[in-house]
Amino acid sequence: MTEITAPSFVALDIDQLASVEGRVVVLAEGAERLDKGARRINRLTKGALGRLLESKAFAKAKTGDAVEMAWPAGMAAEAVQVIKTDRKLDHDTARKIGAAIGKAGLGKEVLVLAGAHRHLTEIVLGAMLRGYDFKDHKSADDDDEASEGSLVFAVSKPEELSAEAENLIAVAQGVFMTRDLVNEPANVLTTTEFAARAQALADLGVTVEVLEEDELEKLGMRALLGVGQGSDSPSKVVVMQWNGGAKDAAPLALVGKGVVFDTGGISLKPAAGMEDMTMDMGGAGTVVGVMKTLAMRKAAANVVGLIGLVENMPGSNAQRPGDVVRSMKGDTIEVINTDAEGRLVLCDVMWYAQDRFKPAAMIDLATLTGAIIIGLGHENAGVFSNNDDLAKDFLKAADGEGEGFWRMPLGDGYDKQLKSRIADVKNVGGRAAGSITAAQFLKRFVKDETPWIHLDIAGVALLDSDSTLAPKGATGWGVRTLDRLVRDAYES
Ligand code: BES
Ligand code: ZN
Ligand code: ZN
Repeated sequence: MTEITAPSFVALDIDQLASVEGRVVVLAEGAERLDKGARRINRLTKGALGRLLESKAFAKAKTGDAVEMAWPAGMAAEAVQVIKTDRKLDHDTARKIGAAIGKAGLGKEVLVLAGAHRHLTEIVLGAMLRGYDFKDHKSADDDDEASEGSLVFAVSKPEELSAEAENLIAVAQGVFMTRDLVNEPANVLTTTEFAARAQALADLGVTVEVLEEDELEKLGMRALLGVGQGSDSPSKVVVMQWNGGAKDAAPLALVGKGVVFDTGGISLKPAAGMEDMTMDMGGAGTVVGVMKTLAMRKAAANVVGLIGLVENMPGSNAQRPGDVVRSMKGDTIEVINTDAEGRLVLCDVMWYAQDRFKPAAMIDLATLTGAIIIGLGHENAGVFSNNDDLAKDFLKAADGEGEGFWRMPLGDGYDKQLKSRIADVKNVGGRAAGSITAAQFLKRFVKDETPWIHLDIAGVALLDSDSTLAPKGATGWGVRTLDRLVRDAYES
């Protein structure tokens, strides 16, 4: 798993500057108003920093862009990197500046001259998040083994930031856990392996239970079990409880779709791009990542995380199109398309979550529909909710973290599309409004009194190009927003 480079904070030691062997990063607005550290570097490099700051390249650079000064004569550093900043920094730009620090990699010694910069915590978090690298399956060269990274910020008030650092690390570790799970191939991350990784949260004080197939059968989760019955990997539901809040306070419930691989089942997907379906456990991955963050920072709230782990495979025992299954709630479902399996998994886990925990609110996450990618692309995840107050709190948290989420409509009119000839409901509603009919399907399994949000993260959980805070691959989308929602709305 990805090891995190925990940042440390020190007061600037001018004399050490010359001896840093890795990379020195200077945050600068321009040639005027250089701070102490920058002036020192300018002297050491015989004016090279000043010339760079006055160059056309730097003038053309936008806030957050990095300009390299390679092999700076007079210093031991491999490179001095100058990142353009400005006085009127907002949170987004601060994260972008942080990302520019992390982008070059955190495998070596990195010293950032940050002084008393605004929004330092966002800069630090940005550097950590963008510094993530999933290389578990790359054969290591000797160089890799030898180098140990360090990320050091020279700041004017180190004590203040050191106190914040633990929270930042908790957030980064949660995001990394999600990314590791989503990046992991399906031959490694089987349902059993996934459950074992969730189980490891017990070390942080999370109560973890794994419900096996016989128990799920007893609970009546035939919708979930039907999806997994074509696979040799056993279906499981993992229940994680973090009880950091008042003893009698109803918890927030997080429910995740954990399809460790989605072939489509008998309604087989086309070959091209099927390899991406290793990420079809992204909702469950996010739930586990959030639980990790909450436990690491000892959140003062009660939160339960439930994930449905199955593999959707064709086989002689696989579910067929046309099969009818009975959900735990009791509603019967006609399975028209075995590739619309996520909703079959979620409906049982959501019902169980409400039945057992009577949650104050429930949020489910799923890489649920290709249609959400047609609607929102890769910039926003879809938000569906039966409760305006909860949706408002959630979208505010998302805005604060800069994670794209966009509210979509629900409406009883869409239920027409889900009418089955022989059962209570069918699992697909046709091409029109595919993400909304999926959400309407889930809504049948939400009790009227439960404030609920469904998040369709199919377009954002895994990206095929770099984004501001993540290299290409798994993003960990939603971990930071949910952590902030808990902080702002559930911790007093
Ligand atoms: N896991 C897919 C959705 C998906 C698509 C996630 C692309 C990430 C990227 C889901 O199980 C699925 O196959 N949905 C079908 C539903 C259809 C059969 C109604 C889809 O979106 O095509
Ligand atoms: Zn599917
Ligand atoms: Zn799926």
